[in-house]
Amino acid sequence: MANLLITGGAGFIGSHTCLVLLQAGHRLVVLDNFANSGPEALRRVAELAGLDGWSTSGSGSWATADRRLTLHQGDVRSRRDLDPLFAAEPIEGVLHFAGLKAVSESIEQPLHYWGVNVAGSVSLLKAMEAGNCRTLVFSSSATLYGHPERVPIAEDAAIRPINPYGQTKAAVEQLLADVAASQPGWRLARLRYFNPVGAHPSGRIGEDPLGTPTNIFPLLSQVALGRRPVLQVFGHDWPTVDGTGVRDYIHVLDLAEGHSAALALLLSEAPQLLTLNLGSGQGHSVLELANAFAAASGREIPLQHSARRPGDSAISIADPGAAERCMGWRSRRGLAEICRDGWAWQQANPRGYGT
Ligand code: UD1
Repeated sequence: MANLLITGGAGFIGSHTCLVLLQAGHRLVVLDNFANSGPEALRRVAELAGLDGWSTSGSGSWATADRRLTLHQGDVRSRRDLDPLFAAEPIEGVLHFAGLKAVSESIEQPLHYWGVNVAGSVSLLKAMEAGNCRTLVFSSSATLYGHPERVPIAEDAAIRPINPYGQTKAAVEQLLADVAASQPGWRLARLRYFNPVGAHPSGRIGEDPLGTPTNIFPLLSQVALGRRPVLQVFGHDWPTVDGTGVRDYIHVLDLAEGHSAALALLLSEAPQLLTLNLGSGQGHSVLELANAFAAASGREIPLQHSARRPGDSAISIADPGAAERCMGWRSRRGLAEICRDGWAWQQANPRGYGT
């Protein structure tokens, strides 16, 4: 059992990871500014973990009766928000999910992206140093690989981000390498996510993007529900099995379990800098995904072929071998399960959490 700080823990990947960490017996302090989330996700996480008495103290803080899960509204860029969390009790490890992730927005607002993703990480690392905590699991992204030269993509592939969002992830990865090299004792993991999708099978927690989604899975769910008329298929002339883009879709619970495994490894081994892909190793085209979702939902998914989306690449598939060798983790849930669980969430929560 460890005392952990989870930044961005109310978001899609953060909330699923909080549940897995609670089920592994840890005690969690969550910091989230609700830029793309709200407290409701964690109320449901507490419920799924069997924790009672979720309530607010009224000043932007919530907790379960036993305080196994506490939530504070606050910002990673603010030492005034961070420092009290480290002062209140010893924190043994941090999982850092807080960040912005929309590619097109990052092109329009690079200062905002560098501020939240990079300056936010610097602020967190300074607070960790001051609070004597040197264990961190960082949410990185396969977006670092840009247009990969070959697939599946191993961790030693070239880092060539093609947009400001990717640049911020590359910058934080470099920052962590510099910190690890600066003094011994840091236990750091850089986890490169492929395409996280799906939801908890209970249908109680899932992805709730603010405004119009840009990623395919929430768009697909909304088309199945009838909230959108068609799914635009970006490009039919990619050099792939059916001409549509191929991605490595990974169930969010598999991803959450990957975080739990990485944390366990960091806490049990000598200090190290771990760099791992978290993907399934399987590629699926847009048409395959749409067909699987239609089968899982029993709904028709009208498709409309349109031009390639600028900045897209043909194929992205992880080589997940290193994660299996290092920490015995691999994804266990396939495309049918991803679509079944995503659909259960969307059907039960047509407007997300309603926040
Ligand atoms: C995108 C980002 C990536 C980020 C990830 C998670 C780009 C270029 N990449 O990945 O940096 O880490 O989201 O937030 O934005 N597609 C359609 N129709 C749609 C939407 C998508 O056909 O309406 C296709 C895309 O062309 C692609 C696949 O579906 O082939 C997956 O797209 P998406 O879910 O946006 O993820 P990525 O582009 O892989």
